[in-house]
Amino acid sequence: MKIVAIQSSPGKDGLTSRLAQAVLRGATAAGAETELIHLNHHHINVCKACARGWGQCRRGEDCIQKGEDDFYAIHERLAAADGFVFATPVYFWDLSESAKVFLDRLRRIEWPRKEQAPLRGKAFVGIAAAGGSGTGAPMAINNLERYVSYLQLRPVAQLPVSRQNKDLQMVAAEQTGRFMVEQVQAGMQAWKEQG
Ligand SMILES: Cc1cc2nc3c(=O)[nH]c(=O)nc-3n(C[C@H](O)[C@H](O)[C@H](O)COP(=O)(O)O)c2cc1C
Repeated sequence: MKIVAIQSSPGKDGLTSRLAQAVLRGATAAGAETELIHLNHHHINVCKACARGWGQCRRGEDCIQKGEDDFYAIHERLAAADGFVFATPVYFWDLSESAKVFLDRLRRIEWPRKEQAPLRGKAFVGIAAAGGSGTGAPMAINNLERYVSYLQLRPVAQLPVSRQNKDLQMVAAEQTGRFMVEQVQAGMQAWKEQG
């Protein structure tokens, strides 16, 4: 079993990254193979909203920008995984800029493929880390849920983390990783076949 985490803070060892790593630690302890992707260290183009808003992606075809950036390389790693963790820092009560750019592209290519969507049925954990004032994590996690609602994932847990509760949530993140693997083992993937 493979669990892939994407973290969208520029810092490789900041709070956001450490929360993603905690989930992966739990998943590793439960027997999964894991991978952490630092999104800001990859090049992802902004969606061009081609053809006046809806391009060929609407017909389930690849994005016109395929091959021009790292988007599809990351998408392939997600498609090959059983579970997907997405962790964002909270910026202005919202997702980070890199998170939005990536998720904009992701929902564009996943949603029109319906039953054939590569990420359909995969277990999902979302994390939003408000490490400044500590405000905005619930709003950011809500916005993350809105993005991923187009991906037909199976939500396992969402962790709104603030500066004030980060020690508690770090423990929860590790337990979430174990729980995520157990959920996949318990047959969450069967949902994919059942539709
Ligand atoms: C542009 C910007 C906006 C931010 N907005 C918020 C915010 O609304 N609420 C908050 O608690 N922290 C805010 N922060 C702090 C980040 O949430 C904090 O840096 C993050 O949790 C930890 O980042 P790290 O993963 O790089 O350590 C902001 C930081 C930046 C750079």
